[in-house]
Amino acid sequence: MVLSRRTFSALAGTAALGFSLSGSGSEMACAAGRAPVAPTGPAPGPPSADGKAHTVGFDRYSMLIDGKRLVLWSGEVHPFRLPSPSLWRDVLEKLRAHGYNTISIYVSWNYHSPAPGKYDFTGVRDLDLFLRTAAETGLYVILRPGPYINAEVDAGGFPGWLTVTQGTARTSDPTYLKYVDEWLTAVDRIAAKHLYTKGGGTIVLYQLENEYANNVSSPLGRDYMTHLYTKVRRDGIDVPLFHNDKGRNGHWAPGTFDTGGEKDRYLYGFDGYPSPFAPPPDWGYFGVGGTKGGSTASPETPGLIAEFGGGWFDPWGGVEFDGKGYAESRRTRDAAYERRFYLTNLANGIKVHNVYMTFGGTSWGWLPAPIVYTSYDYGAALDEARQPTAKLIPMHQIGQLLHSVPDLAKLDRAEDISVGDTGVKAYHLVNPDTKAHFYILRNDASAEAVASVPLAGTTLPVPVPGLDARLLATGITLGRRKLRYSTAQPMMWLAAGRQDIAVFTGRTGESTRTALECASEPTVTVLEGNPVHVYADGVLRIDARLNSLTRVLVQGGGISTPLLLLFADDQTSGRLWRHDTPSGPVLVRGPALLRTAALRGTTVHLTGDTIEAADLEVWGPRGVSEVVWNQGTLKTVATTSGSLQVEQRLPGVPVVLLPTLTNWRRSAENPESAADYDDSGWKAANKKSSYSVTPVPAGQPVLFADDYGYHYGDVWYRGRFTDAGKAGSVSFSYISGAQGLLMAWLDGKPLGTHRMPVPDKKTVRLGTWSATATFPVPEKKGPRVLSVLVRRMQHDEDGAAKDTHKVARGLTAVTFEGDSPAVTWRIRGEVIPDPVRGPVNNGGLYGERHGWHLPGFADSRWKVVDFPRDERRQGVVWYRTDFRLAVDASVDASIGLTLTDDPARAYRVQIFLNGWNMGQYINDVGPQHTFVLPNGLLRTRGPNTLALAVLSDGTTPAGPGKVALTLLGSAAGGVPVAVVNSPGRAVKH
Ligand code: GAL
Repeated sequence: MVLSRRTFSALAGTAALGFSLSGSGSEMACAAGRAPVAPTGPAPGPPSADGKAHTVGFDRYSMLIDGKRLVLWSGEVHPFRLPSPSLWRDVLEKLRAHGYNTISIYVSWNYHSPAPGKYDFTGVRDLDLFLRTAAETGLYVILRPGPYINAEVDAGGFPGWLTVTQGTARTSDPTYLKYVDEWLTAVDRIAAKHLYTKGGGTIVLYQLENEYANNVSSPLGRDYMTHLYTKVRRDGIDVPLFHNDKGRNGHWAPGTFDTGGEKDRYLYGFDGYPSPFAPPPDWGYFGVGGTKGGSTASPETPGLIAEFGGGWFDPWGGVEFDGKGYAESRRTRDAAYERRFYLTNLANGIKVHNVYMTFGGTSWGWLPAPIVYTSYDYGAALDEARQPTAKLIPMHQIGQLLHSVPDLAKLDRAEDISVGDTGVKAYHLVNPDTKAHFYILRNDASAEAVASVPLAGTTLPVPVPGLDARLLATGITLGRRKLRYSTAQPMMWLAAGRQDIAVFTGRTGESTRTALECASEPTVTVLEGNPVHVYADGVLRIDARLNSLTRVLVQGGGISTPLLLLFADDQTSGRLWRHDTPSGPVLVRGPALLRTAALRGTTVHLTGDTIEAADLEVWGPRGVSEVVWNQGTLKTVATTSGSLQVEQRLPGVPVVLLPTLTNWRRSAENPESAADYDDSGWKAANKKSSYSVTPVPAGQPVLFADDYGYHYGDVWYRGRFTDAGKAGSVSFSYISGAQGLLMAWLDGKPLGTHRMPVPDKKTVRLGTWSATATFPVPEKKGPRVLSVLVRRMQHDEDGAAKDTHKVARGLTAVTFEGDSPAVTWRIRGEVIPDPVRGPVNNGGLYGERHGWHLPGFADSRWKVVDFPRDERRQGVVWYRTDFRLAVDASVDASIGLTLTDDPARAYRVQIFLNGWNMGQYINDVGPQHTFVLPNGLLRTRGPNTLALAVLSDGTTPAGPGKVALTLLGSAAGGVPVAVVNSPGRAVKH
């Protein structure tokens, strides 16, 4: 409904904005004759690096930021899994818009440290920039710099070089602590600049160690934790610290180790990844779910879940999700899972709630731990290609609610209620100050149940769909009015112009009843939809069916400020965006995303995304009369809802055309396998001892690659011996991690390839993969040479703190059957790490050592080919091509590279985009076929170079088959993307 400008200003423009928490005298009369109860105070506004001092504390209920209660509603994001700094802003803006007020980040030591004493925070590793972006986006930060992070990354985040150092990691061993201090000094130097306490940034919590379950009662562990605590404090980190306990064991709760006399600045935290197929667990905060652990382990600190499953990871072969990949992770942990599990967490008193992962991203290069493949999509709410999924909607609804209704930050358990014999589990909570009540209703059965819920003295039927949950409230304030009850979930309220707006939400088609306290009869105008309303006994009752949007305007009734009630179904609620500006909140309806909102004069400037033609309707502070969307001024009309609506819908996204990849040039390599290859420049592999936890076999030299400084990717060995004439076979023992392989040649001729088996449900958790490959050695008198290529799949993680990241990689022993000739070994792995792309970009293939992966490499003498389909060859072949993109600057296109082929073909491909290693495709294992090429690394307006390093074992014809660019999503809008420096020649240190 459209209004004249005059009527509009009556709603939006004439009255003073300032609403007061205590209300005016006439409003008090409206609140059913009682003085309205003041809420505990508004939640703090969005944080920024404002240069002011702030206090960050907590009590047993919640965090207290500048003395104000706040539930940290957080999503885990890993900067190192998105190697394009401009896109950090995109992801963070998407999370903030969807109701998250906090992000949690691991900082991965290995990503920043190519060698002892060397720490690099430049380019894609610019932590300072990331933290600045988080502050500019208005998000609090939980910083988790390890030293150990796990996280399905190589060695759980430990740098390759740490695998060859003395002492036991994750203990008070002095060598380890020396290196830990080095790392913490480097990372804390940056972190200290971004503490919210100092106004330099928005860090409010800092994690000391991750799932450290060993040595909990021994000095090895206790001294280690105390060392970390003291070191971090000495580095100037003054926000509260915590540890992430693996499950609720009570490990490292306050008082279990020496925190230098500090009592109130350390919290207990734990994590949980419960099965989505069993009812959500209770964590024990209110004495339910057992007496051990959970927040009962630490009654004086608020419930802190440092990680709670927002999806799950998938190992090679797609073992976890039966080959269906991350789509299945997302399906089994969908929006209803989130409501069911996360609302249960809130019901259990959790007030710091971090969802791992909220954006998973990509374990590019040699970053992944051997257990996982390149994609770390995780089935998260924001997918690997940065596309919002339906999982963001419940997070949006709950996040907005926590922001609008601060009563939720202080909850006690209230008396149990009966909801009838329905199987619905009900949690009843109350804010002891405001007496607002909250009910979390959960249905663990698959069929819908209708609970009979006593709400403010009335028992009402409330449907709870199968395997779903909802939150209901009574007694919360909605601006100047008070909610008696609603069977719809409250989502937010705000004061916009001279009216209040309150939003309720739920599943499409649900019938809801909402009751507002009102001393005298108000004027009720239905603006959209078909709700029914009735006033009786000081209560206005509105029955509305959730379908798209229902609007009801409530005026008068003793309160001068109108209230616009919006009842939005899930999908519509996902198109309602609240943004807090210094002049007051703005509510926007319509587009696929609202990124920013700023008020200048009478104009509201908005930026955001559309993916299809969309409405744009804006409610803002008084006096707003013009709307600018993505820099364009739009014609608007005033509506009866007190909003401005654009006359013409915003356009959707133009079609994005992608080129076909042609003109591939080919070159084979592995000259290292040739008998006469000159390996004189290689290191002699003749060490006698190692700090590896893998024993050096008696009588053998150390062949472990790490001991020679080669920590990532492929490693070559050449062994010379003199044939005594009787050797019958040679056996290579090697350790590689899941999906590693070994290929061998004798005197330039292939002996064969050994591959680690594809993991299955039983073997997937083994961690270490070791095997022995035996090949016949045909007799030939005289000097002979063995060439061996081992594809290592990175170091094991060290979750159990048993130094498993120090399990060897590469060859471990070589034995002969029959005569055992003395072999002289040489070894060659990666060259000095690329200073721009970092230590995890390259392994030791010939092509990588000679820059074949880099843009600008002179490949003009390589032959242009169609991918050969008949060739069987053991070894490495490269393909390169250039392509140009011309995506419109106003479009954010997310593009991937998809490889498909007959799964019988035994080959794998490393994908290099403009020199960046975007991951590994294993054609006959999978399940990943599409590799995200993040914009910035990918030039969406300009030339690009792709290089594919294909490793095939020769048992079948190799590939690639089909290689194509694919569009993974597009939006009109996005963020400006700077091209990431991608030098064409490796720069020497
Ligand atoms: C947690 C761990 C994380 C990650 C997660 C599974 O136990 O703290 O780092 O490994 O499991 O994705």
